[in-house]
Amino acid sequence: MKGFADRVNSVEEYYFSAKLREVNQLIAEGKPIINLGIGSPDLAPDKKVIDALKSTADNQQSHGYQSYQGIAELRTSMGNFYAREYGVSLDPTKEILPMMGSKEGIMHLSMTFLNPGDEVLIPNPGYPTYTSVTNLLGAKAIYYGIDLGKAGRPNLEELENQDLSRVKLMWINYPHMPTGAPGSRPVLQELVVFAKKHGIILLHDNPYSHILTKEPISILSIPGAKEVAMELNSLSKVFNMPGWRVGMLVGREDWISKVLKVKSKMDSGMFLGIQKGAIAALNLGESWFSDLGSTYQSRRKLVWKLADKLNLSYDTNAAGLFVWCKVPDGRSAVELVDELLYERNIFITPGKIFGSEGESYVRFSLCMPEFKILEAINRIK
Ligand SMILES: Cc1ncc(COP(=O)(O)O)c(C=O)c1O
Repeated sequence: MKGFADRVNSVEEYYFSAKLREVNQLIAEGKPIINLGIGSPDLAPDKKVIDALKSTADNQQSHGYQSYQGIAELRTSMGNFYAREYGVSLDPTKEILPMMGSKEGIMHLSMTFLNPGDEVLIPNPGYPTYTSVTNLLGAKAIYYGIDLGKAGRPNLEELENQDLSRVKLMWINYPHMPTGAPGSRPVLQELVVFAKKHGIILLHDNPYSHILTKEPISILSIPGAKEVAMELNSLSKVFNMPGWRVGMLVGREDWISKVLKVKSKMDSGMFLGIQKGAIAALNLGESWFSDLGSTYQSRRKLVWKLADKLNLSYDTNAAGLFVWCKVPDGRSAVELVDELLYERNIFITPGKIFGSEGESYVRFSLCMPEFKILEAINRIK
């Protein structure tokens, strides 16, 4: 045995993978844990989605390998979704690549663009996968802060003062996870100008566009963005389909074709039933989004109550699937998380797993029914 690849040492086990083992152990011991930690929607997809999966699975012709690019009908539905929801017109034959979730897309994009030593701008706090994948590829993460008072605007002035010559990619994510900073058209416009000026490829990770937002925004709807930006999108959160693993990459044809070159070495298409279910989801009407919005609005009100009881502060204008709360000065966020887990059987996420700027925060997920959130409130004295 000559040892493992060096890259194995460049990453740690994902926090949730380790922590959920502990939480599951507590549940197995009979502890009545309320899990407000992870952002996995608890509600079912629409019935039409399930029916499409079932009827496809019943057909003997459905079980072969599928196209690396997904079936044409799926790409057309994704294109229609972009036109309808974001006012963005895409060519489904060239500018859309279905993905097995956007997490997979983060790896494929990074593999397509990064050489060892290249630099990548990553939000702090931010989704930990941007850093892990960057490290796995021997590239270097450069962190930038975001201003929660300005819809999550990156501190571009600070970035301008740094040497950006080795920066190839910049990850952005609005609504931002974990903070819920909504982003805005002016912020995205500034980012497009910044990326163009410095020859940086802007990668917008957009899985929360319809969750508690005023309007869904795609970076590609910003003038000039198509030249410098690509976008990942996902059915996981917006259509309650996280376990299905369906997402998409949209943007420039020449970049998409390079990503396909890489991706086609790693999988052999997506099961037809999943594609048919995804098509049914993408074709759902406005009422799907309004129902989803009212569910999460009611839950969020209760989570705010829970946060009030714990003396935490939060921004009521935030968007997305989480409530991001600051712990009072002098209080440790990690201690609060442990106290809630071991003394009240409530699991929430410590902000520090999203980066050093998350140290004094905790994150509550809205993926729990109201009665469970009420129960959590009642457990706080
Ligand atoms: C910011 C962000 N990007 C991407 C993902 C991954 O989503 P998917 O299920 O599409 O892989 C998540 C999931 O938690 C996320 O929070």
